[in-house]
Amino acid sequence: MIEPRTNRNLALELLRVTEAGALAAAPLQGRGNKDAADQRAVEAIRNAMAVVDMKGTVVIGEGEKDEAPMLYFGEQIGNGLEPEVDVAVDPIEGTSLTASGLPGAISVVALAERGSMFTTHVPYMQKLVVGRRARGVIDLEMPVEWNLRRIAKAEGLPVQELTVVVLERDRNQEIVAQIRDVGARIKLITAGDVGGALEAALEMRSGIHCMMGSGGSTEGVLAACAIRTIGGDMQAKLYFRDDKERELATKEGHKPNKVLHLDDLCSGNDIFFAATGITTGELLKGVRYEDVYAYTQSMVLRSASGTMRIVDAYHPIDKLRAKGLLPEQVALP
Ligand code: FBP
Repeated sequence: MIEPRTNRNLALELLRVTEAGALAAAPLQGRGNKDAADQRAVEAIRNAMAVVDMKGTVVIGEGEKDEAPMLYFGEQIGNGLEPEVDVAVDPIEGTSLTASGLPGAISVVALAERGSMFTTHVPYMQKLVVGRRARGVIDLEMPVEWNLRRIAKAEGLPVQELTVVVLERDRNQEIVAQIRDVGARIKLITAGDVGGALEAALEMRSGIHCMMGSGGSTEGVLAACAIRTIGGDMQAKLYFRDDKERELATKEGHKPNKVLHLDDLCSGNDIFFAATGITTGELLKGVRYEDVYAYTQSMVLRSASGTMRIVDAYHPIDKLRAKGLLPEQVALP
């Protein structure tokens, strides 16, 4: 017997939210103004969220680290009706990519039951992400070589055949050196480690086996929400640039050196995730303007069913203009 469908898939509503974020940011691709792009995406996401039936609280977001126009911590979003949910949001994951017209910028939102998401004002986390086959074999406390050898064994590959994504930052140089010593390949990314984490988790689609190194905490929680649905594994640990950040973690009630597993990052059983491409990347195509339509591609995930949807959408340009999602003064290609 085919079971009747009882549950609402909030991610399908979130899809309209991230589409709005991406469509609002896209006209500013390659125009060198990341703040203006962020501002537009935040406003569009706020407006789109306002009509979703939910009582959402932003528990982790980007505003403070980037000094960006925030969807701030504690902000109530949605129309106030049930369900009550935690929200993790990054209106533009890859503001610098957007401003430079480089690949891999996305607009991304995740929801889960109220109280289920990890929250912190500490900006960075160390992360280790792998795909399904290497689930359960990683340990962030162990050396890079130890992890790579175990991942290679789980993948059935020589370690030299592994490809590891690392965010290119000074603070990740030591990890890069250790990966090179072991002989694995590295794909350095200049930004966008939610995408990097998803590539590692979705290895069959990407050819990436692992992500290592530190990146944003919000991005860590967003990635964990997606990985809880698509499979794979992730461990993280707060990364402190100074004692003040360590004290902040303690004040927030965290054990500063604790290794955070997927369930610590998001313990929910009903997780919804949506991401829409702004600039074309490995994961998703970016916004394109074609004749009378703007095209978007999005990923929509729901943990209860485990379904991953890739959704192509065509938005009439005249309607986007009417909604302010496409300003008149930005010339179309
Ligand atoms: P934003 O565009 O949202 O600022 O994030 C881009 C990003 O590259 C993330 O993918 C990454 O986790 C974080 O910034 C790293 O922060 P920083 O650039 O400060 O090292």
